[in-house]
Amino acid sequence: RPARSEHDVLIIGGGVAGLTLALHVAGTRRVTLVRPASDDQGASRWAQGGIAAVLSPQDDFDAHVADTLVAGDGLCDERAVRFTVEQGPAAIEWLLSLGVPFTRDESPSASYPYHLTREGGHGARRIIHAEDATGRAVLDTLKSHVEAHPAIAIRDDLVAIGLMGDAQQRCRGARCVDERGQLQELLAGDTVLATGGASGLYRHTTSPHPASGEGMMMAAELGAELMNLEFQQFHPTCLYDPGGPPFLISEAVRGEGGRLYSTDGHRFMLERDERAELAPRDIVARAIDAEMQRTGSPHVWLDVTHLGDAAIRSHFPTIHAHCLHRGLDITRAPIPVVPAAHYSCGGVATDLDGSSSVPHLYAIGEVACTGLHGANRMASNSLLECLVYARSCAGKLALRAPAATSSPTAGTVGTKRVEAHRVEQWRTAMRDIMSRHVAIVRRDAGLEAASRELSELSREIQAAVESAAPDTALASLWHAVRLARLTVMAARQRRESRGLHFNPDCPPHDQTGLAPRPSRLHLADLP
Ligand code: SIN
Repeated sequence: RPARSEHDVLIIGGGVAGLTLALHVAGTRRVTLVRPASDDQGASRWAQGGIAAVLSPQDDFDAHVADTLVAGDGLCDERAVRFTVEQGPAAIEWLLSLGVPFTRDESPSASYPYHLTREGGHGARRIIHAEDATGRAVLDTLKSHVEAHPAIAIRDDLVAIGLMGDAQQRCRGARCVDERGQLQELLAGDTVLATGGASGLYRHTTSPHPASGEGMMMAAELGAELMNLEFQQFHPTCLYDPGGPPFLISEAVRGEGGRLYSTDGHRFMLERDERAELAPRDIVARAIDAEMQRTGSPHVWLDVTHLGDAAIRSHFPTIHAHCLHRGLDITRAPIPVVPAAHYSCGGVATDLDGSSSVPHLYAIGEVACTGLHGANRMASNSLLECLVYARSCAGKLALRAPAATSSPTAGTVGTKRVEAHRVEQWRTAMRDIMSRHVAIVRRDAGLEAASRELSELSREIQAAVESAAPDTALASLWHAVRLARLTVMAARQRRESRGLHFNPDCPPHDQTGLAPRPSRLHLADLP
């Protein structure tokens, strides 16, 4: 029988959302934080550009709301957008009070003490940042506060592989695997998923160890509703470096004047969109994809050499140093870039306080779908969302009395070991299917093939799962392959091209005459 322990608020995930929630809730409830021992897992550490918020006296809430709605291509929930935007300045004030070293604006004409950069879709300078490594700076600051907090118990020896429910379908905590491979059951009054997105369903990603939708599928196993899975964002500019680790070239590079060229020297964004390189991401990623097809080249160029040596080194020290380390001096030569899977706009459907459709289960950050991003997330709205919803979720949890923990329903545990290389083969096969058929451009025939191939693969994996001993890699893959199937299902059901979901076999959404509608699926919808 697995070891059992009792907890009050259980938070799963150690990125910006999870740590922010832990700090806010620890004043009123006891917190247990299950997070990876190393935070190069997930996406927060790798976020470069910054956090969008209305901070400049020249900016206003209506403008930020309007830009977000345009980028979201008609599918944002305006209530969620306005809520997020209006909570933004207070969230930034809180980070400043903790000591996050945001880059200052030293120019004599500065109207706000910190430098604000621009990114795609934003009509104003509204992105506060810490040089070009904002995620790292925010995470390091939050971590130092969390680690010093007496009311937060950190468990970095556990990996959550599933949630537990009771007979009334309420969430009652999580099943975890410890360092010895033993199952441990953490019973909790309230459980919060802050486990990140699902970019790991794809072969090429912008962060080295992305999540693969584990949290989304753990919630779905308890009956939670998933929303908008078909909207997977590909960041337009990941460094093209087949021999090296994934590395993002921040959108702020284009915000500060970087230009895109095809490998035959054509500045293609000028004729694609009046906002050129600063069009929303779906448009830029699609244009790059089309240029790569046209020229047969595996990348396009992003050129910043005209910005000058000093500006490049001061705005983008991390990018400059990384590229130099890989043999490329970006002050003298253009950067080869390629789109890569970056952000999941869909996830566990939640309300403005992170509540999911399952009682006592919450989701915040990329694992959640609040309605903020619609069909395409605008740059730097994601760290904002992590902060705002962690804070609102903490408000909700503070109002709840610690719940009595009823007994969860029993799970079954097998004993067979599955070889690691077999799990890796299956994962590679799943990523290949998704990258081939369900990426920047999807077509009906490809989606049909993906559906068939994934259900075969999933049958094979299920057979192994049913008799397997607790195994974190296998559990992650089992979550991922079912999420991949649901993603394909959502993509097949959407008979329009909208935002990140571009299917040339379907008309653009403004030609269908249909009202915009988010997609909603449950695990039980899988055949
Ligand atoms: C970037 O720096 O381009 C990433 C920021 C984001 O994804 O919002």
